[in-house]
Order: sequence, then structure tokens, then C-alpha cells
Amino acid sequence: MRKKIVAGNWKMNMTPSEAVALCETLKPLVAESEADVVLCVPAIDICPVVEAVRGTNIAVGAENLYYEDKGAYTGEISADMILDAGAKYVIIGHSERRDYFKETDAIINKKVLKALEKGLIPIVCCGETLEQREQGITIDWVRMQIKIAFQGVSAEQAKGMVIAYEPIWAIGTGVTATTEQAQEVCKAIRDVICEVYGTDTAEAIRIQYGGSVNAKNAAELFAQPDIDGGLVGGASLKADFGVIATA
Ligand code: 13P
Repeated sequence: MRKKIVAGNWKMNMTPSEAVALCETLKPLVAESEADVVLCVPAIDICPVVEAVRGTNIAVGAENLYYEDKGAYTGEISADMILDAGAKYVIIGHSERRDYFKETDAIINKKVLKALEKGLIPIVCCGETLEQREQGITIDWVRMQIKIAFQGVSAEQAKGMVIAYEPIWAIGTGVTATTEQAQEVCKAIRDVICEVYGTDTAEAIRIQYGGSVNAKNAAELFAQPDIDGGLVGGASLKADFGVIATA
């Protein structure tokens, strides 16, 4: 049985002091969760959030990293920095990074390999636009994103990774994919992992759904056979995250 994993993605929200206050709110609300609970937070919030959740069941993640070890890359943060700050996870390839910051599948692959080399757990995002869904190419598109992101990743490494399927049309829109749509694509992702790595890896890797997950729809989504939890944006900034983490 795969353990569920529910992760918040705070995006560009929460100053360091607001972040600590939100952790104080969330700690008791997620304490009973049987899932792995993760808060992926802005880089500047990682240190205070790690302190604020120390000794609890909450792990911390970054929202991005750069694929070089160190050097003249003004404004970027490295895997070593994230690890030394006390975070364990890193979101890679979120659609907002692909869209606004022009991250390609090849860049995302480099980031995945660096995260794994250093011992961070990547949460690799994929998902289609509304146009792609209407064109009927959702599954082809997502398969391609996953295949490129996983180039050079071993089966052993892949087992410990997390994939987040986030249809772009469902992010921040209040429009959630139906449970059938979400399950269909999450199963297709597990199938492509099976093709590349075999059944053991496909059975071990955890696949989240993301896109307008809320306190009302989380339980039904997470009950699907190929959905192992969620990547939660807006609802992770409020008490609803407690409901979702225990759904
Ligand atoms: P929302 O939950 O706000 O739709 O955001 C989803 C998301 O992008 C999480 O990474």
C-alpha cells in the first residue's frame, strides 16, 4: 500500500512572519493525518517554517531549485541550500514555472537529476492546457512530459519520487477535474512509469492530483486507485488544509 502524500504549494504567498503564524494554525489541524504532510514554501520561508514545524508530522519542501551546484546564478537556490535549510522535498516543473519562467522539459529533467543526486525528493509536475484537453492529446502530452522529466532516473530513484498531475485549466480556477478525469490521467502516468521501469516502480511511485483541491472534493479524489494524495495551492493557505490532509 502506498502512503498518501498531501503537499501544500504556497506559491508566492506568505512573508516569513506570516508563514510562522500559518504553521501554528496548521500544526494541530494536520496532526492526526495518516498521510505524509508537506509544506512547499517560498525559499525565504524555508528556514522559519522548518523551525516552526520541528517535532511535528509536517515536512518542508522548496518550490523550485537550480540544477547547478553553486556559482554565478544570481537569484537562484541550490539543492544543497535547500537541504541544509532542513527541507526534504522540492517541486519541479510546476506549470507556472513552465509558463512564466519558460522552463522546458529538458531543464526540468536537469533539475530532477540534481535533486536526486543531492537526496531531495522531487515532486514532478505535469499537466495539459484546456486547449490540449479539447484536442484530445492530454494523455500523449503528459506521457511525453513524464518521459523527458525521468530521463536518466533509475528505477530505484523513481520509486521514491512523487508526480503531481495538475491540469492547467484546474489550477486556481475553482474548476476541479472530475474524479474520473483525474483518475484516468493518473492511471496513464502510472502506466508510462510501468512501461519505462516495470511494475515494482509503478506500484511504488506516488502520484498526486492538483488543481482546485479543496476541503469538499479531497476525500473523493484521494479515494481513487491511482491518486495518492494532492498538491494543494490556495486551500493550503488556510485551515482547509487540515481537512484535506486528513481526508
Ligand atoms: P490551486 O489548488 O490553487 O488550484 O493550485 C494548484 C496548484 O498549482 C498546486 O501546485
